[in-house]
Amino acid sequence: MNIATKPPANAPDVVENLLKARWSCRSFKPDPLPQDIVERILTMSQHTASWCNSQPWKLVVTSGKATEELRQKMHGRGMTNEPDDSDFPYPREYRGVYQERRRESGFQLYDAVGIGHKDMPARTMQALENFNFFGAPHVAIIHTEEALGVYGAVDCGLYVSSFLIAAQSFGVATIAQAAVARQSQFLHKHFDIGDDRRIVCGISFGWPDESHPINKYRTSRAKLADVVDFRR
Ligand SMILES: Cc1cc2nc3c(=O)[nH]c(=O)nc-3n(C[C@H](O)[C@H](O)[C@H](O)COP(=O)(O)O)c2cc1C
Repeated sequence: MNIATKPPANAPDVVENLLKARWSCRSFKPDPLPQDIVERILTMSQHTASWCNSQPWKLVVTSGKATEELRQKMHGRGMTNEPDDSDFPYPREYRGVYQERRRESGFQLYDAVGIGHKDMPARTMQALENFNFFGAPHVAIIHTEEALGVYGAVDCGLYVSSFLIAAQSFGVATIAQAAVARQSQFLHKHFDIGDDRRIVCGISFGWPDESHPINKYRTSRAKLADVVDFRR
């Protein structure tokens, strides 16, 4: 194990660039990624920290026919309005600033593709694109150990972040998707994922279709003063 002590001088710029350049891609090119890039992203992500080094994340990663079959089944289930069967409860309520941020990012998305804010049928059709994985050639289904409870899910959240940034370093676009976990019971059966596991979310990934209008906006971020309480 290489125990590096001093990062290179440009490390903060490299990391900042990756963090700022990443965005949630909602239109992908269909071309599959080279397997060596996929494996490198996964290998890099293994360095994620976790409580007691439990590394509770496990993934199903699809390509080719496996993605197409999943896309067809999940989109079909979405179209017929199958009830939500998430392993984790969805947020109870978005209040105050959280509701404002949610609305702002939602309206940015609708504006980008010309969907009226009150056009519910068009909004529903756009939401169903989650189950098409936005055209991505690959999807990762991330699941955690049930007995680790909320901290297992936290560790998986860190893992997702590592994955997104590792992918970004190759120019590979990503989107984390809680929507995919809305079909958790189906995913348990489809991939033979045991009852001792809880599905956290999906990540669709591949090369971005940068010309698509849906990929042409970026979400805002709160100021430091809105989130940090410095005490001295
Ligand atoms: C855990 C998690 C779940 C998400 N689920 C979805 C989803 O189901 N569908 C979707 O379109 N975007 C989803 N997103 C993407 C967020 O909407 C996006 O990260 C946020 O609006 C900030 O935009 P950015 O990723 O482009 O910076 C999810 C993001 C995270 C971190």
